[in-house]
Amino acid sequence: MLSEKMNEALNVQANRELYSSYLYLSMSYYFESVNMLGFASWMRVQAGEELVHAMKMLDYVVSAGGRARVLAVEGPRVFWASPKEAFGQVWDHERAVTGLIHSLVGVAEAEKDEATRSFLQWYVDEQVEEEESSDSVLKLVLAAGDDDAALLAADRELGHRSFKFPRGFEMFPYASAQ
Ligand SMILES: [Fe+2]
Ligand SMILES: [Fe+2]
Repeated sequence: MLSEKMNEALNVQANRELYSSYLYLSMSYYFESVNMLGFASWMRVQAGEELVHAMKMLDYVVSAGGRARVLAVEGPRVFWASPKEAFGQVWDHERAVTGLIHSLVGVAEAEKDEATRSFLQWYVDEQVEEEESSDSVLKLVLAAGDDDAALLAADRELGHRSFKFPRGFEMFPYASAQ
């Protein structure tokens, strides 16, 4: 059973994951508007993953006997000056999210909630990967600089990213429960 405090902290983090999804979806449409479809595709996969992060967290809240609440999501930016600026923000954002996940772990520990602490390890590990991938993508874009051909090659390369659900996560659990 979740404490009221733990329940609220998980709902708030799910909201931050939804915000991440909005931010990356917004970046995806920005890239589409400047005809960089590989970057747009990468961002769309990223937006999908963040939506799943939010759902996975709220699914856990329900399974732990808590109350899942989908809170209002702040509107993200809608324009960036360059791929460099957008991917720079991804890198900053992922580092900030890592801090939020670590604080959430702190709440679980303070509440002596071992089950939630264990559940959150998936997010701790996920953030290591998220930081690593956003760092390598930013380096790729920075290396391209103002060289159009290099930027085009980076755009094409990032377009190959595909979407994967986390192991054990069910996108449509009610349908399969029928
Ligand atoms: Fe996330
Ligand atoms: Fe993320």
